[in-house]
Amino acid sequence: MKGKGNIVIKIGGSLLFTKDKKINSKKIANFCEIIKNKPDFDNLVIVCGGGLIAREYINSIRSLKGNEALCDIIGIELSRINSKLFITSFGELAFPQVPRSIEELSTASLFKKIIVMGGLQPGQSTTSVALEVAEYLGANELILLTNVDGIYDKDPKKHTDAKVFENISYVELQDIILKSSGDKQAAAGEYRIFDAVSLQILKRSHIEVLVMSGSDLINFKKYWNGEAKFMGTIVSNNGNNN
Ligand code: UTP
Repeated sequence: MKGKGNIVIKIGGSLLFTKDKKINSKKIANFCEIIKNKPDFDNLVIVCGGGLIAREYINSIRSLKGNEALCDIIGIELSRINSKLFITSFGELAFPQVPRSIEELSTASLFKKIIVMGGLQPGQSTTSVALEVAEYLGANELILLTNVDGIYDKDPKKHTDAKVFENISYVELQDIILKSSGDKQAAAGEYRIFDAVSLQILKRSHIEVLVMSGSDLINFKKYWNGEAKFMGTIVSNNGNNN
């Protein structure tokens, strides 16, 4: 597969489940079809979140008096199980195993298949994984698919007047995260779109990140196919480079 370089896509775990808490197999198949129909990349790595099922396990571990590290490990395991759903749907286009480290990813990338992976180590979110992968591969594009339209100035679920940014710098992003995060921000299952680790990687490697909604995949499909310009938030070093 030859095309526009190395691409990393993170799929937020919230996108993998229906409102009635079932795995959204139809959506997973739909996403894979969009990619299969336009395999415009050299390497594609998809990073899956843990979603509802990870949170369910994390809550149970906590109520059983398990510590935060154990909660994270469970979150990582669940994100890897979610990854298997995409590997199944991609069929022979996908590398059959879920890389468990950056070293395993480097080996897997030699096969030029689509790679799907979840978490790596405790203390971070799968957004940090996506950034670590993008940093390692020198990715040309990093897309974060989430359940909102981009990065807002305040929590859109709590404030009706919240505004979505078209562009935002790392410094502005950091301010928003510091303002909006309470103590729970760094608990297992609670890392927000960007966690502390992901901010550090952004700053040291100057990676540009496209944050967009993956709720119905319509915008993503148009963007992927080159039929529409990007809609969402572009996170970059100076916040206004487009
Ligand atoms: P995420 O919180 O990243 O998944 O990982 P998510 O459900 O997709 O979150 P959204 O939708 O993007 O907000 C699930 C949990 O797995 C652990 C963390 O506890 C995390 O909250 N995890 C994940 C790690 O400890 N390390 C990793 O590298 C990745």
